[in-house]
Amino acid sequence: MKWWQSAVVYHIYPRSFQDSNGDGIGDIPGIISRLDYLEQLGITAIWLGPVYQSPNDDNGYDISDYRAIHPDFGTMADMEKLIDEANKRNIKLIMDLVVNHTSDEHEWFKDAKQNKDNPYRDYYIWRDPVNGGPPNDLRSTFSGSAWAFDEQTGQYYLHLFSKKQPDLNWENEKVRHEVYDMMNFWLDKGIGGFRMDVIDLIGKVPDEGITANGPKLHEYLKEMHEQTFKGRDVMTVGETWGATPETAKLYSHPDRNELSMVFQFEHITLDEQPNQSKWDLKTLEIKDLKEVLSKWQEELKGDGWNSLFWNNHDTPRIVSRWGNDLKYRVESAKSFAILLHLMKGTPYIYQGEEIGMTNRHITSIDEVDDIESRNMYAERLAEGYSKEDILHSINVKGRDNARTPVQWDDSEQAGFTSGTPWLPVQPNKNDINVKEALENKESIFYTYKALVRMRKDNPIVVWGEYKQLLPDHPTLFAYKRLYKGEEWVVVANMSEKELNGISLDSAKEVENIMISNYNRDDIDLNNLFLKPYETVAVKLKG
Ligand code: NOJ
Repeated sequence: MKWWQSAVVYHIYPRSFQDSNGDGIGDIPGIISRLDYLEQLGITAIWLGPVYQSPNDDNGYDISDYRAIHPDFGTMADMEKLIDEANKRNIKLIMDLVVNHTSDEHEWFKDAKQNKDNPYRDYYIWRDPVNGGPPNDLRSTFSGSAWAFDEQTGQYYLHLFSKKQPDLNWENEKVRHEVYDMMNFWLDKGIGGFRMDVIDLIGKVPDEGITANGPKLHEYLKEMHEQTFKGRDVMTVGETWGATPETAKLYSHPDRNELSMVFQFEHITLDEQPNQSKWDLKTLEIKDLKEVLSKWQEELKGDGWNSLFWNNHDTPRIVSRWGNDLKYRVESAKSFAILLHLMKGTPYIYQGEEIGMTNRHITSIDEVDDIESRNMYAERLAEGYSKEDILHSINVKGRDNARTPVQWDDSEQAGFTSGTPWLPVQPNKNDINVKEALENKESIFYTYKALVRMRKDNPIVVWGEYKQLLPDHPTLFAYKRLYKGEEWVVVANMSEKELNGISLDSAKEVENIMISNYNRDDIDLNNLFLKPYETVAVKLKG
């Protein structure tokens, strides 16, 4: 048993968490000032978004110096204090590791660009033009070709994200060892592990059009393990967009010595048109969600470990996305929390989720900060899409949705900053904020707190076998957990329509209601009546 198997991780997007110096950008001293709040929530670890030196083309995911802290966020001394203060509260700090690419302002790339013979040239991926154009038709996640032409040396370099994020050449042993040295530099400072940005891309074979899951991926991860984490009690989580339960086992099987767990997105892509992009919207079918989440629960078994999450800094807020962020905001937010936190895996809470923060609404592209949304807007406009359609996609899926400042109280800038926030505070901060949530014992916050506690106190939540119940029902999500003779059942009405008279054919009676979102004090599993979004978890009599 590893500590991260019973952990709950809290994900901080540093720019938007808490500003301490009035420049409108969240910072490390701001995070330190909120550690007591996180301790109160009960979480075990923080996944800290990138705080390294960066020109911020992609808000820190374009790193120009891996061993320096961006002055917007503070100093190295602040960072060491954060690690220390977190550790004092038994909270581990998980740093974001962005090593598929660097910034084009990293010293390595600046050197590499000088000429073809530069010793750093081969740190990146360069190819000659083909027929006067890019070497092939690989596309960047942020729109357009993944190849950018460098005038000075007459070659193209690969960038699977923005032009300012050139991909590192993992085939080059020197690159790999530079990365491992840098990882050890941070591990030696006492961090609790790494969240690995798009780690499934490092084994790419661009000439064959292979980006994710390349042939050498697992070889590199094993080498990384050997050179860095081996012998250290740390947690590693790989961002692996295209993982299946089968490939997840390759990353996270305990005997393979690669990563602790995967962070995969299969459930998160169920509201997009198949084989199109995240911007091509489709209504979520609850049945699909049940099927995918259950598949991951049932197929991973003891052969791998998965993360549990509804949202992060790249995806919309769950309560707005698949719940109802007006009439049933509290009920649906609690429902999603209960449903997910009683599954097997390591849950992640994205900042503000624990108080039911909502998506942001924009009416013009001028309001958008996110590079992915802005590039897509320009591309689709040129392709003839209507402005309305594009803005609608951004409102539903854009990354700024999750990046608005955390709403701490109802003051002018919600307690986030004394200055002007880099992204505006949401107008609903008067009703939705941490201060209110802490004062109100019925708030979403206390449901999260109870769920975090429940995982610590009940081995069944961590280890129990999972079985889906009534898989064909279109809106009732029901499952069972079983562990050493103990049984729990979770039922969630994932719609605004009441559900009546459904039977789970349970031979056992209910012993206890463990948690619910409507303060239920009894329930008949063989004649269920559930209000909109009503969700209940029970323990059965032995
Ligand atoms: C995934 C990160 O979560 C996202 O924010 C970033 O833009 C890309 N990787 C590129 O680093």
